[in-house]
Amino acid sequence: PVRIGVLTSGGDAQGMNAAVRAVVRTALRMGAQPYAVMEGWAGAVAGGDAIRPLGWDAVGSVLHRGGTIIGTARCPEFREREGQRAAALHLLEHGIDRLVVIGGDGSLTGTNEFRKNWPGLLAELVESGQITPETAAAHPALVVTGIVGSIDNDLVGADMTIGTDSALHRILEAIDDISSTAASHQRTFVVEVMGRHCGYLALMAAVAGGCDYVLVPELPPADGWEEDMCRKLSQGRQAGRRESMVIVAEGATDRAGNRITAEDVKQVLADRLGEKARVTILGHVQRGGKPSAYDRWMSTLLGCTAAREVLTAEAGTEPCIIAERHNRIERLPMMEQIRATQEVKDLVAAGDYLGAVQARGTS
Ligand code: F6P
Repeated sequence: PVRIGVLTSGGDAQGMNAAVRAVVRTALRMGAQPYAVMEGWAGAVAGGDAIRPLGWDAVGSVLHRGGTIIGTARCPEFREREGQRAAALHLLEHGIDRLVVIGGDGSLTGTNEFRKNWPGLLAELVESGQITPETAAAHPALVVTGIVGSIDNDLVGADMTIGTDSALHRILEAIDDISSTAASHQRTFVVEVMGRHCGYLALMAAVAGGCDYVLVPELPPADGWEEDMCRKLSQGRQAGRRESMVIVAEGATDRAGNRITAEDVKQVLADRLGEKARVTILGHVQRGGKPSAYDRWMSTLLGCTAAREVLTAEAGTEPCIIAERHNRIERLPMMEQIRATQEVKDLVAAGDYLGAVQARGTS
């Protein structure tokens, strides 16, 4: 049977297990043999039993589990030529030249580089005598299909990425819990949420949690934001509100690119309002725990579609990402989505916030 690999890479995200399960079972149904590449690209670089066949039962009872049962890692070796050569060799030892990669924007970018390098890597392996010219000729191209798994929701083109909805649930549970203690003491809480360079989690949590102020990287506040924030919080208090909540994305900056941390916000409140605000950094609880219903079913549909795609794609054709877009499961061109995601980041870095929003909206 045709052999395909599945791996999860980068930060884990709730729902990755549902996607892995769907890839494995769809592949088996289609008569293929799926393999797990354990610990993300690190497993491919390491080889040995880090690449192992999976049967139907290996992915039983995992739908409801957080994290990823096949492990994940951020793998610096895979960025080097030597690491990529080792990964190619180890995949070929199992006859694998088709892969479903579930990971964030960085992981998919690395995957695309590896795919492009594949023919050159095989030529080097032939030259060093590690594979025969016949083996290289039998696997002329690497077929990859991506699924975006990241709580950050930072890939242009996808409505939601795996884990984002569950992370938002986690954040909202925390905000609700903090609200009651904040109200008792008439306190302001400053809550820092994850998202790396993306403010999606912060913005949506602020809207869904009824928060007073939010700081996100995509729209750094104008000079004088401290005064604006304090005025809004004071107005809330005057209107009878007992608790206040400011959400700070971990990647929030001012317009000069300097980070604004939760502690900075706390200091502003102390200096200007004489308030002793409390800071809560939610951290990895956001990535932990059970996947939401949404993440389970969406990841299942993405996994089924990705397995079908990777098994039927012609070698040498442009790779795609399977993502939910406009409420449908769609095939998006991988390289184009990666390019568009980078463009948004570059526009933000250059201070063209409106351009970034427009680029994200139209890609
Ligand atoms: O990309 C997911 C994410 O959780 C980001 O939101 C966060 O910045 C980062 O990963 C944390 O990485 P690590 O788990 O390596 O500390």
